[in-house]
Amino acid sequence: MSFPFYTGIIAGMSNKHLIVPSILSADLTRIGDVVLELENAGIDWIQIDVMDGHFVPNITFGPSFVEAIRRITSLPLDVHLMIQDPDRYLEVFAEAGASSLTVHIETCPDIQRTIAAIRELGLHVGVALNPETPVSALTDVLSLVDLILVMTVNPGFAGQTFIQSTLNKIREIHSLLAEIEPRPRIQVDGGISAETAPSAASAGADTFVAASAIFKHPQGIKAGVESLKNSLVGVKTR
Ligand code: DX5
Repeated sequence: MSFPFYTGIIAGMSNKHLIVPSILSADLTRIGDVVLELENAGIDWIQIDVMDGHFVPNITFGPSFVEAIRRITSLPLDVHLMIQDPDRYLEVFAEAGASSLTVHIETCPDIQRTIAAIRELGLHVGVALNPETPVSALTDVLSLVDLILVMTVNPGFAGQTFIQSTLNKIREIHSLLAEIEPRPRIQVDGGISAETAPSAASAGADTFVAASAIFKHPQGIKAGVESLKNSLVGVKTR
């Protein structure tokens, strides 16, 4: 399925800020309505967090969940694989309807092969790194991917506090991407709110994943999305 993964990129200008709810914290008893609410709130993609209880200490969704969400929306489904040995599952998530697959550099012994396999499936490719993983771990693959996911908390659970020291990593990656065309997006995930998103954007992030700030917003989902969007108005990505 083709979708506007690069929406808003204009040569020479900063990337449009994209808002990507992580439906980990959604009310799953009414997921169809929630997805509709998100669409009406003007979100860009939906992130589905896949956790295996090994790479991260939590267990969440599998391919059948991705397939169910695919049946109720045509929005891009950004599947974040927090699992050991992701190569075994690329095809099944592609068949389920993922639009992009993001794998962790920490889980891929041959990251170039994994990237090539995702491309062969016709999907966009993301590579993620944990807060303690240095940027040097992925310098070789920056030009091969569509998205770099900088984890701004240790992955596993929603509701954690944004780790300030990850801002330096975002700046470093942003500088390294300057010469690459088309420029991969820099996505941030973990503790992203109206308070933390602007500093991540100033450091170079353009794609904002949020669970608590959207699903736990006291005035509801739409207000959560609006508050995140408003916090980014006028903030220039470097
Ligand atoms: C972290 C997950 C995040 C998480 C974000 O392990 O990958 O997507 O759901 O949650 P908040 O926005 O609440 O930090």
